[in-house]
Amino acid sequence: MSEYPGGPLILGIETSCDETGVGIVAGHRLLADAVASSVTEHARFGGVVPEVASRAHLEAMVPTVHRACAEAGVTPSDVDAIAVTAGPGLTGALLVGVAAAKAYALALGKPLYGVNHLAAHVAVDILEHGPLPQPAVALLVSGGHSSLLRVDDITGSITPLGSTIDDAAGEAFDKVARVLGLPFPGGPHIDRLACAGSAEAIAFPRGLTGPRDAPYNFSFSGLKSAVARWVERLERDGSPVPVADVAASFQEAVVDVLTAKAVRACRETGMEHLILGGGVAANSRLRALAETRAAANGLLLRVPRPGLCTDNGAMVAALGSLLVDAGVPASSEELGADSTLPVTLVSVPA
Ligand code: KG4
Ligand code: ZN
Repeated sequence: MSEYPGGPLILGIETSCDETGVGIVAGHRLLADAVASSVTEHARFGGVVPEVASRAHLEAMVPTVHRACAEAGVTPSDVDAIAVTAGPGLTGALLVGVAAAKAYALALGKPLYGVNHLAAHVAVDILEHGPLPQPAVALLVSGGHSSLLRVDDITGSITPLGSTIDDAAGEAFDKVARVLGLPFPGGPHIDRLACAGSAEAIAFPRGLTGPRDAPYNFSFSGLKSAVARWVERLERDGSPVPVADVAASFQEAVVDVLTAKAVRACRETGMEHLILGGGVAANSRLRALAETRAAANGLLLRVPRPGLCTDNGAMVAALGSLLVDAGVPASSEELGADSTLPVTLVSVPA
């Protein structure tokens, strides 16, 4: 074990989508968080193009590892273990990270942990707020996933309570942004525009909130279509589209449902703690409403800072550090990428 104060020194590699992330942590302490994004290369296609992302990861991988090591003031041979996102995500993109991590682990003689991207989105909060409160409910909202999870032990016991039955929350933000003529990825643009609009201007539908609907599942595709129809009607009539009001009202419909269901999950499972994670957790209105509703229901809320919500390597390193601390065995040398790795599999077995 390294002599770094704080705990095991872990290098984390993330390449599941369009961010090449390399993070270095010592226990719960963040030493480096280097991210190279290929987002501008995808913008003109209105979404992430897998082949373009894989190629960009390949080019950015080694320079990003060097940048992270320089930032942390360590060399790769100092690290105690390497963690890499094994899934879920884009297969070709994941493969670049897994291949790089295997090469580093083999060349340096270090244990290798293939970890779950979704669990890493939850684990990252330790870098800002210390040990995770457990058990807890986690609301995981990203471009590819939207789920409510019961987290009894982030290193090995995660139970899905519900998830989206169609679009992920981030996907809905990106698709609505496109309807409004905003650049990809649309989430941050809608967040910014919504500040100038009224959340009550338009009554957009709240999916799956009826008395007979699954309480912990989400649906955002009806909302997305409702926004598109609303905007198209104005455009057909030649009326100006109140873009800020549409953004604010759409955003409110999403965060209203997310927070209401998260609070209900806490209450019905008897949890005191709610953890938010994933790119959409960077949303300013989601953060504010979650805080208000958590306080009103006597819940303690944990949300990492926005920069740690979107994809990064530090979250992978953070989960790696918890796995090492918990004595979880390293993954098999046969480790591969699994685009559909279930959240119940926090790390790939030995
Ligand atoms: O976790 P993430 O970086 O990548 C995935 O694992 O998918 O999440 C990316 C998603 C995108 O859909 C992006 O539009 C959304 O997170 N996002 C936001 C905000 N920042 C990022 N959505 C709403 N408001 C934001 N401020
Ligand atoms: Zn993510």
